Amino acid sequence: MIDTLRALLVPGKGLLAMDESVGTCNQRLVAAGIAPTPEMRQAYRALLLGTPQLGEGIGGVILHDETLRQSLDNGRAMVSTAQLAQDAGVLIGIKVDLGTQELPGHAGEKVTEGLDGLAPRLQAYRALGARFAKWRGVCSVDDLARPSLACIEANAHALARYAGLCQAAGLVPIVEPEVLMAGPHSLARCQQVTEALLGSVFSQLQRQGVALELLILKPNMVISGQDGPQQDSAAEVARATLQCLRRAVPAAVPGIVLLSGGQSGPQASSRLNALHAVPDASLPWAVSFSFARALQHPALEIWAGQASQQGAARAALMHRVRCNVAALRGRYTAELENP
Ligand code: G3H
Repeated sequence: MIDTLRALLVPGKGLLAMDESVGTCNQRLVAAGIAPTPEMRQAYRALLLGTPQLGEGIGGVILHDETLRQSLDNGRAMVSTAQLAQDAGVLIGIKVDLGTQELPGHAGEKVTEGLDGLAPRLQAYRALGARFAKWRGVCSVDDLARPSLACIEANAHALARYAGLCQAAGLVPIVEPEVLMAGPHSLARCQQVTEALLGSVFSQLQRQGVALELLILKPNMVISGQDGPQQDSAAEVARATLQCLRRAVPAAVPGIVLLSGGQSGPQASSRLNALHAVPDASLPWAVSFSFARALQHPALEIWAGQASQQGAARAALMHRVRCNVAALRGRYTAELENP
């Protein structure tokens, strides 16, 4: 796990999340005019994984169970395509939660499922080459009632149980508590909720005896809700996010990789850059990215299911990777978007 952490948190690299559930992946395929079939999901993910320069800026990829088990047309398993990424220094991670369900008695709130039978599943993933895992719990926000304490605590407890099981199996857990962007809430409300959620997560992690030194936290940035009037500047997001993380995340945690949560690629890059451009921001943890949408868009649209577009799509993916690598050094500017 220490070797895995070193490889994932190496300075100047982040993670590529490509672990969308079948339903979410299908929605994104349909939005790009692509048939939502297993073959297309496989072709798209093989395109991402087979990007030759991926290891320049990506230390690990998070896969979905389907991807790890699919076979390519020539009979090779996807796991051998994943091997290509591993040969380029990219470690394989796996989403192990089974998605969200309604939290009974709390209309509209969700709890993440998947603890039953998790220990043997983790052993199987390790045998298939995975070195780290991911579990995501989500909280929606309004001004008063949401998230409920019940939602916060149920998700925090599940994240901690998952993290303990991962460490027992020798897999580094990525602990992903996400405050969703949906809604008109303010940046201050997002910060309040994020601090409460992270506080509960770390309390549960300690209660379950999880080694904080052997996990990676994957939180949201602190930003205003996407349906409100407010457009946060990158500096505002960086200030609020750093304040929130400093208050809530113990220094024993080696790394934090932020999710993008529905921000555009350039928005996520400029905010990540601002986090690394704050003067005197000496931080106790490595801070990097683990984006799905903010890395994959517009590669998916450019590909559009056409084999002839593979090179252009991979170039678009690498453009976003390089923008985020520049952001990790505080060197991202809007000009980079138009080379
Ligand atoms: O589960 C969600 C992914 O890990 C992050 O995706 O960057 O599109 O929010 P996102």
